[in-house]
Amino acid sequence: MTEKQIYIVGAGPGDEKLITVRGKELLEQADLVIYAGSLVNPKVLEYTKGECIDSYGLTLDETTELIVNAVNDGKFVVRLQSGDPALYGSIVEQVEEMKKYGIKAVRVPGVSSVFAVAAALETQFTLNNVSDSLIITRPAGTTLDVDQIEEFSEMGATMAIFLGTQKIESIMERVRCPKTTPVAVVYHASWDDEKIIRGTVEDISEKVKEAGIKRSAMIIIGDVVDPVNYEKSYLYGVKQGPLD
Ligand SMILES: C[S@@+](CC[C@H](N)C(=O)[O-])C[C@H]1O[C@@H](n2cnc3c(N)ncnc32)[C@H](O)[C@@H]1O
Repeated sequence: MTEKQIYIVGAGPGDEKLITVRGKELLEQADLVIYAGSLVNPKVLEYTKGECIDSYGLTLDETTELIVNAVNDGKFVVRLQSGDPALYGSIVEQVEEMKKYGIKAVRVPGVSSVFAVAAALETQFTLNNVSDSLIITRPAGTTLDVDQIEEFSEMGATMAIFLGTQKIESIMERVRCPKTTPVAVVYHASWDDEKIIRGTVEDISEKVKEAGIKRSAMIIIGDVVDPVNYEKSYLYGVKQGPLD
């Protein structure tokens, strides 16, 4: 008996050229694509001739039922997540559900929006003498009771805050880094309508409000947003050291 399986594919950040070759090939073969809402660019869906269903507003049970019925009908199913499925997706619980029906899920990584944001800002999240670490986090909200934004902001690391645009004012009030720390908000990184707002902890929320950005954006906090006093990389011979 052939094993029943589906593919969980990262769609990338938006630009349809930023899906992996494997992801595109799987979309081309798919009979059914269940995609995760407005953050999957419709241009990516043009790679498939299969039926496309938006999972926005569907419960886990409803999504599972759709997948199980399609697989049992012999269809090739792709679950398409924005960016990379490993960040703020709901993959583990979906895979658990499918296992109950004997369906295996094969995962195909994608380019997370966090990397499209670095490209848009023309910076690095880790930069010698500025920041050696990146904290990926999100503020508390409907599906998260307590966050660690305040504690993280004391660590001197770059912070990438997902799912936080609507709460930007309170986030900026809560962070414990200097008010002059550079902040950028990137809307729809890699999409045709990408927007970048730059400011500081002090003034970014006002600028974001003026720009009318309420969602589909990422907040980056840290000196890497405006890299001035960085040290050149050891890789290029300024200081030689082991390249581990
Ligand atoms: C449910 S999370 C999904 C993240 C996705 N798995 C990823 O790796 O990019 C949705 C959040 O990701 C961020 N996001 C997704 N796509 C984005 C883009 N193209 N530009 C900026 N932020 C984006 C926003 O913070 C948005 O609220």
